[in-house]
Amino acid sequence: MQVLVTGGAGYIGSHTVLSLLENNVDVIVYDNLVNSSIESIDRVEKLTGKKVEFVEGDICDKEKLSRVFKQFSIDAVIHFAALKAVGESAEIPLSYYQNNVHGTVCLLEVMQQHKVHNFIFSSSATVYGEENNVPYVETMKLGTPSSPYGASKVMVERILADLALSDSKFRAVSLRYFNPIGAHESGAIGEDPKGIPNNLLPYVAQVAVGKRDKLRIFGDDYPTKDGSCERDYLHVMDLAQGHVAALDWLNRHPDFSGVEAFNLGTGNGVSVFAIVKAFEQAINKKIPFEVSPRRVGDLPAFWANASKANKELNWQANRSLEQMMTDTWRWQSKNPNGFLI
Ligand SMILES: NC(=O)c1ccc[n+]([C@@H]2O[C@H](COP(=O)([O-])OP(=O)(O)OC[C@H]3O[C@@H](n4cnc5c(N)ncnc54)[C@H](O)[C@@H]3O)[C@@H](O)[C@H]2O)c1
Repeated sequence: MQVLVTGGAGYIGSHTVLSLLENNVDVIVYDNLVNSSIESIDRVEKLTGKKVEFVEGDICDKEKLSRVFKQFSIDAVIHFAALKAVGESAEIPLSYYQNNVHGTVCLLEVMQQHKVHNFIFSSSATVYGEENNVPYVETMKLGTPSSPYGASKVMVERILADLALSDSKFRAVSLRYFNPIGAHESGAIGEDPKGIPNNLLPYVAQVAVGKRDKLRIFGDDYPTKDGSCERDYLHVMDLAQGHVAALDWLNRHPDFSGVEAFNLGTGNGVSVFAIVKAFEQAINKKIPFEVSPRRVGDLPAFWANASKANKELNWQANRSLEQMMTDTWRWQSKNPNGFLI
């Protein structure tokens, strides 16, 4: 089986490519490297002893994409390529809609031209918006996210639903990720954000390694157990295996057409203070922090009801919080400058 992985050089993409190769799936990565390094793919090849076909290109470039579909016999597409910084998306919304929404439409058009019908989409818990109560369940209506980034994910989910209504051959799985953290247990690949990290764990890890002075915790007056925000953190390798499970689900359901959404999370909310404590315990060192005002748009707490993925995909997020911390630290301490060698 051959799978095209857009954005496969990025954080979740590279871990998923590794899991796919370990499950004997051939992979073609298509990435413009706007937020990643080709080094991640080299390391995945070394870790697995398998070859990855790599094409540098933009998903908005339909001619280049089309050549890739002509060159390889692609059975399915896993679509990670997107811009993903929530704050930045409010500053440059048009770039987010262009990249995440228009880019996805280009990809779907090229898939349609080449009669490739299997699609796995990187969606997000953010599609539940502010109006749904926790824990989030797939039967809830799509919400109204507060950021253009979140809105771009809702738009793509709507586009997939409309496409499925118009094309009875189209088979899509929308994976709604909660908060992936951690790194492959080798410490050879991990999250390597360009510039100042937007996510909590890379920030904590960069403070621990001495790259940044202290962590800023946004708000300690939320209506949660300890006043900080709570999120459903899951290990990136569990998330990677969720994609293998989704591909397997599509293969086990040859008569399925339409779009099926699955939450990928642990089902537990963990606070920012609890994450800092767990990280300190894992590395046996204090993390200096200061509390700053709340950020606009941050919800107090959300976590998944992941029963549907547990039952139908035979998938579970098994790795512990401790492992998420030790694997993050192994990656960060072995690669203080990320993939820059
Ligand atoms: N990391 C999270 O917390 C999280 C949570 C929910 C959903 N997601 C989604 O998962 C996907 C992967 O996220 P990630 O954390 O691995 O991000 P990432 O930035 O590490 O990976 C995205 C990859 O896509 C590539 N890319 C971006 N725009 C492109 C384009 N126009 N053409 C080709 N390649 C392009 C980037 O170079 C990068 O390699 C994204 O769609 C993101 O929105 C991430």
